[in-house]
Amino acid sequence: MDTPNTQPEARKKRILSCIQPSGIPTLGNYLGALKNWKTLADEFDGAFAVADLHAITVRQDPAKFRQQIQQVLALLLAIGLDPEQSILFIQSHVPAHSQLAWILNCYTQFGEMSRMTQFKDKSQSHADNVNVGLFAYPVLMAADILLYQADLVPVGADQKQHLEIARDIANRFNTLYSPTFTIPEPYIGKQGARVMSLQSPDKKMSKSDPNPKGYISVFDAPEVIMKKIKSAVTDSEGCVRYADGKDGINNLMSIYSCCTGLSDAQIEHDFQGKGYGDFKVAVAEAVIEELRPVREKFDRYMGDKAYLKDVAAQGAERASRIANRTLQKVMKKVGFVLP
Ligand code: TYM
Repeated sequence: MDTPNTQPEARKKRILSCIQPSGIPTLGNYLGALKNWKTLADEFDGAFAVADLHAITVRQDPAKFRQQIQQVLALLLAIGLDPEQSILFIQSHVPAHSQLAWILNCYTQFGEMSRMTQFKDKSQSHADNVNVGLFAYPVLMAADILLYQADLVPVGADQKQHLEIARDIANRFNTLYSPTFTIPEPYIGKQGARVMSLQSPDKKMSKSDPNPKGYISVFDAPEVIMKKIKSAVTDSEGCVRYADGKDGINNLMSIYSCCTGLSDAQIEHDFQGKGYGDFKVAVAEAVIEELRPVREKFDRYMGDKAYLKDVAAQGAERASRIANRTLQKVMKKVGFVLP
């Protein structure tokens, strides 16, 4: 007689990622992160958050900020994440993030934080407000990840250094006490990991770029997308090929490839003998088609604030259950008297 398989089912790997509601998300956020989240959510246990606590490291206008938090939550739904399948939540609704971040601050060295390139960049671009939160930002990010015992963290290439510090902090804590945190691995897609500015293709596309021609917002109207891509900076060679020194064209090729699934070689072949004008129109059309369904669904979700509130409430409850379990474990190990 066959013996029944009594082995418990292996736990699905968990992925966690977050996006700041610090402005309208860009095509960089979409291709570098959000698009992968949807694919990974079907394979793994997913938790995705609107990182509102992170966003206040830079001054936010309260009314706009409130709006942006809701927009980013609506965007998570619009890209196809299912709130029954994945945990979708707003970071500040789960107090364990701030609590664990404080504890981990005490296990992180000043020197390590000083080396973070994002801190160096942001303290230059916001020289009038180099606050302690900006400095400790990667520790809060480590808390976000470690609370959920995430195995994988899908991010764009710009977040790699922050992931490394999260791993260092986790290893340090595990060694000092006993295994407590899963050591997270970054998941950086092969394509779209670094979408560059359309105007300065040596810099990443960013929602905080003061020049709106440098980025495409996921909510830009089709004619705006066409105009911005047509005015993207390229070079004088006039040949669509991927090569060193052709940052502008390389960037457009990689955007086009993400939206169409075509390889660089296929793109080069298809645009042989054609000028940049034709290529730019094709890129713009591909981006417009890629974003069209997202934009349409987004408008529907933004029109139903009660639903958004429900999703956030349910997400916070599910997230808190996991996060509080980790927090309790940490507090016990450090020696706190638990309530
Ligand atoms: P944020 O809000 O700047 O960006 C969200 C995601 O988009 C990716 N991204 C890009 N990818 C490719 N090209 C670009 N030009 C581009 N710009 C942004 C980012 O890499 C990110 O994956 N610190 C994070 C938010 C965060 C987080 C976390 C992420 C907070 N806690 C925990 C992962 C896990 C940030 O500022 O992302």
